[in-house]
Amino acid sequence: MKFFVDTASLDQIKEAHDLGILDGVTTNPSLMAKEGISGEANVMKHYKDICEIVSGDVSAEVISTDFAGMVEEGKRLAGIAPNIVVKVPMIKDGVKAMSYFTEQGIKTNCTLVFSAGQAILAAKAGATYLSPFVGRVDDINWDGISLIREIAELYAIQQFETEILAASIRNSKHIVDAGLAGADIITCPLSSMLGLLKHPLTDIGLAKFLADHKKANS
Ligand code: E4P
Repeated sequence: MKFFVDTASLDQIKEAHDLGILDGVTTNPSLMAKEGISGEANVMKHYKDICEIVSGDVSAEVISTDFAGMVEEGKRLAGIAPNIVVKVPMIKDGVKAMSYFTEQGIKTNCTLVFSAGQAILAAKAGATYLSPFVGRVDDINWDGISLIREIAELYAIQQFETEILAASIRNSKHIVDAGLAGADIITCPLSSMLGLLKHPLTDIGLAKFLADHKKANS
């Protein structure tokens, strides 16, 4: 399983990177806005800064929604660094753009995926990554983890090479469940990643070890 951090915060990306377990980064326009990044030049510079921290793949999302715009924008984004992946929405022109980028050897991440049918289209277009949104499916009282399981089964049967990147991960349990459901990659906020550390028996055990050591050495 690969681990991506889902943020545009340079501090959080550095913190995740310093753990030594980070394989990549995903961003989206909302996450960029949250960091106050706006304007073409600043956006480009911010992606460059992220790519200087991590050597793994960094998803940069297009804003355009038409084929020509996505191609033009995607080429500019891909030119920032060799590890940039162009993130493209699951819409008709997006499928066309992903097919184009695949032919050009440019990596893509198909975003806003909510069904196995959409996952077929993305795989046929040669998407490098597929981002089914687990949390947003759960938000409408459907089952995001079942969606991951369904796509994983479908991709295995059809031998599609597109990697399943479970996105919209909201908590640490989602990470474990998405892994069990067959996701190749999990992208999540740093808080969910750090949440995996937590277990009361670890804290109790460590406190006891340290207390025993102190007693023996006093
Ligand atoms: C990442 O690729 C997605 O854009 C992100 O995980 C969406 O998460 P959200 O549903 O919490 O906004």
